[in-house]
Amino acid sequence: MIRIQVPATSANLGSGFDSLGIALNLYNQVWMEESDTIDISSKDTIEIPTDDSNLIYWAAKQVYEKCGRKLPGLKIVQLNNIPMARGLGSSSACIVAGILGANRLLGSPLSQQELINLAAAIEGHPDNTTPAIEGGLAASAMEAGRVYSVSVPVSEKIRFAIFIPPFELKTEKARSVLPQEYSRSDAVYNLSRSALMAASLFSGKLENLRVAVQDKIHQPYRASLIDHLDDVFRLSYELGSLGTYVSGAGPTIVSMIDAADTDVFAKYAANHLEEKGITGWQIKVLATDSDGAQISIE
Ligand code: HSE
Repeated sequence: MIRIQVPATSANLGSGFDSLGIALNLYNQVWMEESDTIDISSKDTIEIPTDDSNLIYWAAKQVYEKCGRKLPGLKIVQLNNIPMARGLGSSSACIVAGILGANRLLGSPLSQQELINLAAAIEGHPDNTTPAIEGGLAASAMEAGRVYSVSVPVSEKIRFAIFIPPFELKTEKARSVLPQEYSRSDAVYNLSRSALMAASLFSGKLENLRVAVQDKIHQPYRASLIDHLDDVFRLSYELGSLGTYVSGAGPTIVSMIDAADTDVFAKYAANHLEEKGITGWQIKVLATDSDGAQISIE
């Protein structure tokens, strides 16, 4: 079987709506081989579709169809470490695993660029799929079905403390609350900050991050969908967060922190949540994944 490892991703980084994303060192694993039937199972207790509606299978089928090949079936085994519907790229990870795995089973007919384009086309936006494939901090734009992107390393000085709440938020719902139009001043506000975010994460200019996360495109509209958002933002800044934002469409909240402060931050953040009676949230401190999705043979 082949094994595909795909990192979690955190999109938007506050200001870079639908364009910026980073890969994190938390991974889903998928084992895959051709089969005469659809045989899908899981190594954990998370419920997954086991028919042709399974996202990994469905994405793999798109590759077979694009290459003019019929897909009789697949054996797929999943290990889902990325929590679902939490804004950490779990669906992107399934799409990327499906298309990368299918491409390898077919002898790698599609180029890396074609895989990036196909993943973004399936997902609808490239800010999770591109970093999941390439690793690092990815800036992406889509034009006529092609993704124009660059992936760069994130400064070693930065870690990501993720606050995962005990509830889901579907991307569709989180997108439905956004306005259709924005003012020029709001557009300029985000443009300037997202450019600052990309350059500051790459260079490690930590003092810029608190301004670079600011956003008038999505977070203000989504805030009411995320219980305790204000408390988590406030406590993260009290504990020295360099910049805190809603990960992707939410509901996970991410604080960028100084790599030297990770243990203290995680411990005090857990204590503060408990003191405020905010229960069920998980806190993990992650680093950037620089390599993106990996395939091996087992
Ligand atoms: N950029 C997307 C959003 C990420 O904010 O809706 C979720 O897939």
